[in-house]
Amino acid sequence: MLKKMISKITKFLKIIFFLLFNRNNWLRNYLINEEKFKKLSSGNLSNDLENLIDNLFNLSDSRLQQAANEKPFNNQNTRTEIISNFLNEYKPDQIFETGTLLGNTTEFFGNFDTQVISVEISELYFLISKIRFLDKKNIKLINGDSADILLNITPNNKKIFFYLDAHSQSSLPLKKEIEHCLKFENSVILIDDFKVPNNDSFGYDTYNNLDLSIENYEEIMDRDLYFPNYKTDIDVGNRGYVIVDISGKFSNIFIKNNLLFRHN
Ligand SMILES: C[S@@+](CC[C@H](N)C(=O)[O-])C[C@H]1O[C@@H](n2cnc3c(N)ncnc32)[C@H](O)[C@@H]1O
Repeated sequence: MLKKMISKITKFLKIIFFLLFNRNNWLRNYLINEEKFKKLSSGNLSNDLENLIDNLFNLSDSRLQQAANEKPFNNQNTRTEIISNFLNEYKPDQIFETGTLLGNTTEFFGNFDTQVISVEISELYFLISKIRFLDKKNIKLINGDSADILLNITPNNKKIFFYLDAHSQSSLPLKKEIEHCLKFENSVILIDDFKVPNNDSFGYDTYNNLDLSIENYEEIMDRDLYFPNYKTDIDVGNRGYVIVDISGKFSNIFIKNNLLFRHN
């Protein structure tokens, strides 16, 4: 019994010595740095640190693990085919994605002969994707808030394909993003996680009790809108989405596609 106690106390003293006196110990050196200690002890974790810890402590069920196995557009092969056919005809001057995560859809966009810009707010996901696309010359990643980055682009008449997918419980730039994108008259917007009218088999996001739906995003109501027109069970993923043809100039491409329906 006494032996056990002495062994425990010795272990405890070793840990204290390790933390306080071992000059080569990175953790001790980190903690005695006044700035870093202030940050840690205030309990004020930045989103980046939160993301990192989330992934580290539950790696097998982490966001990283889930995303690592995903294909473009949340594994939706049919949507990937629809967008692929559209982009081949539309021939965009640029593709602009908000919310890179691990770049699963960014990589798909990178296969088209155009410049791809993708914005990610989390430094962790930005850095991982940055490494992933080091040799992809047509993909440019930006670490920042997509609403800020988008608003810095002056509306122009280029054909830009906007893919708005930067939504999370802590950040929802969608309203600002849509309002700005609508000023680009030759552009087309694809919004992910959006409610498909009269079809609940497609999933959609809800933030602060507000669904991502036409009713809550009236600014797109008077534009040409296209929604998926097929059964969800043909794909693994089932997220809803809407395509906004801002000026209605590209209806010839959309209306011939039976996999989409036009909302009036
Ligand atoms: C659904 S995931 C994106 C998935 C990715 N587009 C794909 O297809 O694989 C949403 C991402 O948006 C990011 N995000 C959330 N708010 C953001 C903002 N305001 N600006 C940029 N990125 C944001 C999140 O960190 C997360 O990585």
